[in-house]
Amino acid sequence: PTAHVADLVVFGGTGDLSMRKLLPALFHSDRDGRLAPQTRVIAMSRGGLTDADFRGKVEAEVRPRLHSGDDEGWARFLGRLHHVSVDVGGPDHAGWRALTHLLAGRENIDRVFYLASPPMTFGPFCRGVQEAGLATPRSRVVLEKPLGRDLAGARRINDEVGAIFEERQIFRIDHYLGKETVQNLLVLRFANAFLEPVWNSLWIDHVQITAAESVGTPGRRGYYDQAGALRDMVQNHLLQLLCLVAMEPPSRNDRESIRDEKLKVLQSLRQIAGTEADRFTVRGQYVSGEVDGRAVPGYLDEPDHTAPTVASHRVETFTAIRAEVKNWRWAGVPFYLRTGKRMPHRRSEIVVQFKEVPHSIFPGGGPNRLVLRLGPSEGIHLHIMAKEPGAGEVVPRPVPLSLSFADTFRARVPEAYERLLMDVLSGNPTLFMRRDEVEAAWSWIDPIIATWESGGSPPEPYAAGTPGPAAARELLGRSGRAWYEEDLP
Ligand code: BG6
Repeated sequence: PTAHVADLVVFGGTGDLSMRKLLPALFHSDRDGRLAPQTRVIAMSRGGLTDADFRGKVEAEVRPRLHSGDDEGWARFLGRLHHVSVDVGGPDHAGWRALTHLLAGRENIDRVFYLASPPMTFGPFCRGVQEAGLATPRSRVVLEKPLGRDLAGARRINDEVGAIFEERQIFRIDHYLGKETVQNLLVLRFANAFLEPVWNSLWIDHVQITAAESVGTPGRRGYYDQAGALRDMVQNHLLQLLCLVAMEPPSRNDRESIRDEKLKVLQSLRQIAGTEADRFTVRGQYVSGEVDGRAVPGYLDEPDHTAPTVASHRVETFTAIRAEVKNWRWAGVPFYLRTGKRMPHRRSEIVVQFKEVPHSIFPGGGPNRLVLRLGPSEGIHLHIMAKEPGAGEVVPRPVPLSLSFADTFRARVPEAYERLLMDVLSGNPTLFMRRDEVEAAWSWIDPIIATWESGGSPPEPYAAGTPGPAAARELLGRSGRAWYEEDLP
C-alpha cells in the first residue's frame, strides 16, 4: 500500500545512518510505488549544502551501492530530496526559517521528524521544531538509538521529547523489529496452532539468541567506548527478540496489545546484580586476530581519529548473559543472549531448543531445535530427528525442515528500515518501542552495568575471528549445554 503524502524531515540527514540505511530504504520504497507522489525527504545537517549539492551527494554515494541502472527511478527519487542547513547548537534562526518556508502550506499532511543524530540533540531539535511552530497535530517524531546510557538518561530524553510531542506521536525505532524473520516469529507463534502447546518450560529446554558480527568498530570509538555491546545490542535488539519469543499471545495485532505483552516480559526478567553478574554474565574485548583469512587489529588498535582512553580498555565488544523470565510459562528455562564484534561469521539467530525425548529406543538422537535465522539468508529451520536411508542400524540424525523466505516466496526480502519507514509514514507504531518498554529494559540493564563498573577486572580478551572468550562457553557448559554453531544449508 502507498503511504500518505508526507514531509519526512531527517535531522542528521547526511550522516552515516541516513546515507547507508534510510535513503536506500526510501529509494526502494519509491521504486516499488509505496511513496505518495508528493512525499518529500528533507535532510537537515550543518553541511551548508544546497538541494542540488545534496542530490549530487546521494547520486554519487548512495546510488552506486544499490547498483541501480534505473535512471528514471533515480531522477524521480532525487526530485523528492531537499536539504536545509541548521545548527541546533545555537540559535540558528536562518536554518529554522528555511525549514519553515519549505514546509509552509503543507500543514495538513503528515509530517515526520526523524532524529538520526546523537541523543543530546533530541531535546534541542524538538524545541527548535516547537519554537518555529512546526509541530502540527499530524506530526510524528522518530528517535534513533541510543536512547540514553542508562535509565536516568533514557528518562531525560523521554521527558524532553515528551514535553513537545505526545506519546502517540513518538516512534522509538529498533530496527531489529523490522526484520522479516522477526515479523515472521509473530506469525509462526500466533497463526499456527501446533506450537503453542509446546511453547513453555515443559517442552523447551532453553533459548539462545545470538547476534554475531564479523565486522569490528573502525572509526566508531567515540560512540562505542561509551556504549559497548550491552548498551549497543542487548538493551534494545536482543531484549526485543527475547520479548517476542517469550510473550503471551496478545488478543489483537494492534499498536498497544503487542507492546503490552512485551512490557510484561521485561518486567518479569530476573534482576542480575552484585556477585550474580559474575556467574550470569560474560564480557570480552577482541584483540588482533584473523577474520575471513585477513589479519585484523584489536579493538584498541582500530583506526580512529581519537586515541584509546581508559574507557576504551574497559568497554566490552562481546557479551553473553544468562537471563531468566520469571513467570509460569518460563520458570527454569534459561534464555542465553550473546552478541559480539569480530566473531568468525555474521549470524543472527534465535535457537529454541526443546527437551529430549523422555525415553529413547534408539542409540544417539538429540533434541529438536527451532532456528529462526535473522540473517544472513533469513528463514526458519525446524531440526527434527530422521532416519538415514539404508539397511544398517537405525540411528536418528538431526535434519532441518527449512523455509527460506527468499526462495519460498520468490521475493526480495526487504531491509528492516524499509518496513519501519513505511510504518512511520503511515502512522503505525506497533513495531516501535513505547516509553515504558525502553525504561523497563534499562531497569534490567542498569544493575548489570553498575556491577561491571564497580568490579576491578577489565573484559576478557578474545582473538578476533573466534567466538568470544572461553567463559562464554562455560556459561552454558556448566549445565551441560552448548551454543548452537552448526551451519545451515
Ligand atoms: C546497530 C548497532 O544498532 O545494529 C551496530 O549500533 C550493529 O553496532 C548493528 O552493527 C547490527 O545490525 P544488523 O541489522 O546488521 O544486524
